[in-house]
Amino acid sequence: MEVDRRAFLATLGVGALERMSPEDKAEELEHYMIHMLEEEHAEEEAPLSEEELEEQEQERTARRGTGSLFTSTRELEPIPLNATLEDFFRLRFAPARHVLQSANHALQTGQPERTILACLLHDTVQNLIKVDHGYWGAQLFAPYVDERVSWGIQYHQALRFYPDESTGYEYPEMYNRIFGEDYVPEPYIAEAYKYCRAHKWYMESRLITVNDTYAFQDGVDVTIEPFIDIIGRHFKQPKEGLGNDNSPTAHMWRTMANPDRPL
Ligand SMILES: [Fe+2]
Ligand SMILES: [Fe+2]
Repeated sequence: MEVDRRAFLATLGVGALERMSPEDKAEELEHYMIHMLEEEHAEEEAPLSEEELEEQEQERTARRGTGSLFTSTRELEPIPLNATLEDFFRLRFAPARHVLQSANHALQTGQPERTILACLLHDTVQNLIKVDHGYWGAQLFAPYVDERVSWGIQYHQALRFYPDESTGYEYPEMYNRIFGEDYVPEPYIAEAYKYCRAHKWYMESRLITVNDTYAFQDGVDVTIEPFIDIIGRHFKQPKEGLGNDNSPTAHMWRTMANPDRPL
């Protein structure tokens, strides 16, 4: 996917860039790319004028880290009582192109099923909340997956900024173009990287970042079908349904099921 630097900066609003930390800018870029992939024809929209941008900035009520389900106005079909992960993909995460493309790359290149599942899940929490999405995502899925899957999801947020040539993961060239060559991740990200790099599960997380780089492709639609069996083998689907299962994160699933509830 080609990212137009000016179009990207325009979405941030007037003066927003100066107020953002480097980590926030990187997060914003990832959300922007996922958003562009999700919204068909989004790239064809005419660029906003200076006044329109200012207007948009003033109208902005949602915080930047708010999940997509809360910033979208699309009609949501009810979630069934005994909802499965597949139901959430179909009714809440769709079109989910980025995560489906990344899982598909893992599948096509013969990576372990655990990695395929981690790729499939790694950014879906952005429907709930975007800020610090690696950490939120890890928590959301922890009750239902092998510990290595949620661990990998947690640290992919930090690993994005650190190349590892042995796995073919290069520092995203786009970060240089958009944020400048002097970009420095925040201290907590640097610490998380150090910890993850030395951990025996390092590759669980690294492979998520590797597959991520193949998952911003325009016009590539992947369905959930090829992953149904893998989900069946590796995702502990609660019989009461996600959200009704009293797990430590059931409330997060309920929030995504009913994002319109006032309290
Ligand atoms: Fe991510
Ligand atoms: Fe991603």
